[in-house]
Amino acid sequence: MDIVERIVLSEEQIQTRVQELGQAISQDYGDECITLLCILKGGLMFLCDLAKHITSPVVYDFMSVSSYGDATQSSGVVRITKDLEESIEGKHVIIVEDIIDTGLTLSYLLNNLHSRNPASLRICTLLNKEAHRKVEIAVDYVGFDVPNEFLVGYGLDFKQLYRNIPYVFVPKPEYYQDQVD
Ligand code: IMP
Ligand code: MG
Repeated sequence: MDIVERIVLSEEQIQTRVQELGQAISQDYGDECITLLCILKGGLMFLCDLAKHITSPVVYDFMSVSSYGDATQSSGVVRITKDLEESIEGKHVIIVEDIIDTGLTLSYLLNNLHSRNPASLRICTLLNKEAHRKVEIAVDYVGFDVPNEFLVGYGLDFKQLYRNIPYVFVPKPEYYQDQVD
């Protein structure tokens, strides 16, 4: 694709790591039922691949959030545009995210979800952009630590596109200049 400047994580690298994460989660939870809470839309591809490698019983639920503020700067004020279908009270919940960047979105979500009294609440993110963090977040399962650059593919979008691409790439600057910080 013309938009690709550089592939950061190949399909094979991602699949290998996702399998490892699934195995680690299965070991940690054993026969306990896990609610995999996918944050739409970015977490969807990761959820599907990850769940294939989890041997513990699993149920899915989905949440959709949008950040107030402009398109390029996470404000930390989050609006829930689609809430969970089931109560998570007393459940073992793992949040499945594509990427944690500033951490502002997740920090809001964690507060919100903790108040619903799950038995446990953990975070599994494919990508972790630690260098850009504005609030500290304890992440339990990380696929890859990535540098602070704009990434697209495998769930991550640019103007809602390219979420379906099976690898993660840096787009050519001429495509996104003036669009993201
Ligand atoms: P945070 O509140 O800054 O942690 O925002 C996290 C959300 O911003 C992620 O769930 C993504 O939807 C989006 N995001 C952060 N970094 C990137 C990126 O490099 N490419 C595409 N989306 C990103
Ligand atoms: Mg996301």
